[in-house]
Amino acid sequence: MSAKLLKGTEIREALLAEIKQEVEAIKAAHGVVPGLVTILVGSNPASLSYVSLKIKTAHSLGFHEIQDSQPADISEAALLALLEKYKRDDTIHGILVQLPLPPHINEKKVLDAIDPDKDVDGFHPVNVGRLLIGGKEVKFPPCTPAGIQEMIRRSGVETSGAEVVVVGRSNIVGKPIANMLMQKGPGANATVTVVHTGTKNLAAHCQRADILIVAAGVPGLVKPEWIKPGACVIDVGVNRVGEKTDEKTGRQVAILRGDVDFDAAAKIAGFITPVPGGVGPMTITMLMRNTLNSLKFRLGI
Ligand code: GUN
Repeated sequence: MSAKLLKGTEIREALLAEIKQEVEAIKAAHGVVPGLVTILVGSNPASLSYVSLKIKTAHSLGFHEIQDSQPADISEAALLALLEKYKRDDTIHGILVQLPLPPHINEKKVLDAIDPDKDVDGFHPVNVGRLLIGGKEVKFPPCTPAGIQEMIRRSGVETSGAEVVVVGRSNIVGKPIANMLMQKGPGANATVTVVHTGTKNLAAHCQRADILIVAAGVPGLVKPEWIKPGACVIDVGVNRVGEKTDEKTGRQVAILRGDVDFDAAAKIAGFITPVPGGVGPMTITMLMRNTLNSLKFRLGI
């Protein structure tokens, strides 16, 4: 393997230490800590595990944290009322509703009801608009794209003037990361192409990329011959392709594969993210940063 590994697990530790230090400084100077509420409706096992990790991380940083678990049959009106309650709660700076929601609840209506100034996921249309405008307008960049930008920045790969190709056009990853990297400013200023299921020649576009970001949800979609030698390859795909027995615990665990054929791609790329342990660990870290920033906006610091 010739590519350098971009490990989210390592970058996360550095970022969390920075956040913790800032939390302590703000607490000493202003007597307040960031407050995060995660709302979980029902008991989807994957959601439960994500929410627990978010709360555990918030707790380890000294945040005020609340896990608000609601029954799967909560009414839409009751959920909206809960969002109103947390909007008015001055100890809460970040509100997150874990997705997906049960089918009887209109997800868009719920996301639209989150206070845009506490929307640490960055999914509210106001924050999507702020991201598009860019610069100082941006309050809460969505967490996975923010993590990707941070990984690229820490790799030392130049984004200004770089050819970036984004594979996938989702609202959570493809559209926002493309928008963020084309903005004027540090860690951006790139020439961005977005390719998707309607694109005629995926390979030819990918071959131009100095930075290739793949968020398609198709295991092994990107072949090694699609990668420009020395390119920085960010694989956002986390695909369950089977199960295996964990050697230590003896339990059945998922076999995860990215959207890039990792072993072959690592021989050609300059930098590459592993799956798992690449982009994944960055998402919760950036959620913590957004929550800290929300408090800083509130304090005007
Ligand atoms: N479900 C899966 N990923 C996410 C996320 O980033 N935010 C929320 N709110 N729900 C999710």
